[in-house]
Amino acid sequence: MKYESAVFERSFGTSAQLPPSDMPEIAFSGRSNVGKSSLLNKLLNRKSLARVSSVPGKTVTVNFFRLDECRFVDLPGYGYAKVNAKEKQRWAELMEAYFSSGRQIKLVIQLIDTRRSPTEDDLQMLDFMSYNSLPFAIALTKADKRNRTERKKREETLFAELKHYGEIPVIPFSALSGEGVTELKKAIEEAILRN
Ligand code: GTP
Ligand code: MG
Repeated sequence: MKYESAVFERSFGTSAQLPPSDMPEIAFSGRSNVGKSSLLNKLLNRKSLARVSSVPGKTVTVNFFRLDECRFVDLPGYGYAKVNAKEKQRWAELMEAYFSSGRQIKLVIQLIDTRRSPTEDDLQMLDFMSYNSLPFAIALTKADKRNRTERKKREETLFAELKHYGEIPVIPFSALSGEGVTELKKAIEEAILRN
């Protein structure tokens, strides 16, 4: 797949704007500041196609990136404390609309910070995907921030924490070192080929 061919298509802030799904889609989900934009830029081999922010909670839109064979969908981040009730409601409506509009969602990449246990919100997302039989994989972000021993320990705990979801691919990832890029691309390409 030609990742470099990606172009930014559009951002959608309300559910009514979402276009119909006419291509396979790979969606990226995670809490605010988990490293979603950095991961997307790394995959697409661009410096700043997806915006990387030092101020979290900026992206309350669904962003579509178009590649030759699929779309990458950057879902709005969640869990940022300073977001008000109205914004939270908008987030929920957008997510609901995205996932219930009969789309060709081939894979949801759920990002979780290597340094932390999944949050309540992360677990809710995983429950949602599991309940709706959406195929998903986990990317453990910012892998460079932990040494081998710490990572091994966290990964083992994570397997225990997520045991009831069954076999989920877990891919350690670092936008800094490039670790996990090959594995993630492989998971994406396999998902697109699956019916
Ligand atoms: P929002 O869109 O604001 O919700 O955040 P996001 O999930 O898109 O995260 P973003 O990619 O903007 O990264 C948040 C912060 O984490 C930035 O300061 C990044 O530089 C940093 N960061 C992201 N990925 C990595 C990584 O792999 N390693 C390290 N060390 N830092 C990272
Ligand atoms: Mg972002």
